[in-house]
Amino acid sequence: MKRILLSNRARFTPTSPIRKLAKYANQAKEKGVKVYHFNIGQPDIASPSVFYNAMKEYTEPVIAYEDSRGNKTLRRTWANYLNTNYNLDLTEDNFIISMGASEALLFIFMSCCDPGDEVIVFDPTYANYISFGAESGVDLIPVLSDLENNFTLPSKEEIEKKITNRTRAILLCNPNNPTGTVYDENDIKFLLNICEEYNFFLVVDEAYREYVYDSIKPKCALEIDKDNPRIIIIDSLSKRYSLCGARLGALITKNQDVLSTVLHIAQARLCAPTIEQYAAAKTIEQLPISYLEKIRKEYQERRDVLYDAICQVQGITAYKPEGAFYMTVQFPIDNVEDFAIYLLTQFSYENKTSFIAPGAGFYMQNGKGNNKARLAYCINKDDIKDGIFVLQKGLEAYKNR
Ligand SMILES: Cc1ncc(COP(=O)(O)O)c(C=O)c1O
Repeated sequence: MKRILLSNRARFTPTSPIRKLAKYANQAKEKGVKVYHFNIGQPDIASPSVFYNAMKEYTEPVIAYEDSRGNKTLRRTWANYLNTNYNLDLTEDNFIISMGASEALLFIFMSCCDPGDEVIVFDPTYANYISFGAESGVDLIPVLSDLENNFTLPSKEEIEKKITNRTRAILLCNPNNPTGTVYDENDIKFLLNICEEYNFFLVVDEAYREYVYDSIKPKCALEIDKDNPRIIIIDSLSKRYSLCGARLGALITKNQDVLSTVLHIAQARLCAPTIEQYAAAKTIEQLPISYLEKIRKEYQERRDVLYDAICQVQGITAYKPEGAFYMTVQFPIDNVEDFAIYLLTQFSYENKTSFIAPGAGFYMQNGKGNNKARLAYCINKDDIKDGIFVLQKGLEAYKNR
């Protein structure tokens, strides 16, 4: 049959670097090999029982469409949570509830940009931003913020070199996926000043806001300038409460123009899931901040275990992450994707192997990520230790093969 045409938009949307090698991991598992998953940021922490209970207690006779802006109680509860913990003065009218942060990001690309407009991101970047750009026709313009400089923000000059009359926003991920970097108040002010000077938006993805370590205090970019209409926050319940599959996020801003424009798009997709929103409102309302503090401590301990273990592996360079649950590391080999496939297909140590996410998929600049990988620490401390030990054995075997 003659090939039926499909869109270039979809064809040029990259496949996920996190899931790309999953078929090899599945084959290894079928052979009975234990696979340590450093590849994916799927929390293993149990989802809160209050969420499950609320799902069960939902008794409306019809599961109706929710308000396209999101369930009012959820928006109000989420606003209260941010106001209480981050000294803000948000109301339910500053929110649009989305199907995860993912949809909120797509809303931003679709409503702040036209096809061919540009959004500046820092390289390495959360891989799905690249996909959202491809889907919406928005060009992501990377500015390098690499390991040699501990992933600090590039200079104003470097950023300015990438600004054109089509730039519509700077998109910052804080805390950062894939590097674990946490940007402080000065960093955010620095970017906000550039956005003011050139008159575009500052979009801050705070999916990991609560997970910052040592003496760092979690920060919301809106704290810096509560009413600033060019700040847009992307939020998510996925990682905070281990609710990835509930698909709930939010776009938060004081900018009513953005909210009403996004609503045109939000209305066409009708709503985020009704019962999940009901249960999420109960969850945010009922769980004390100490609940998140326990999880934060657990991730911090895992970060320490991973960093100590990775520092023992000869030839690997790593930067100690300050937040989220990722670390980007550099290997003493040129093609980490080949090594990652080797680990899953040709290697095992005592019938165990490790699954890492090759760095190339997180870098927009060709070649920059080829010798790097992202490691997620969403597995328990014993598995992290053993998984890195197995990785070290794999690296030795790979180099000697
Ligand atoms: C930085 C970042 N933003 C957004 C998302 C998407 O989150 P959600 O599950 O809320 O769509 C993720 C998920 O891993 C992420 O790491």
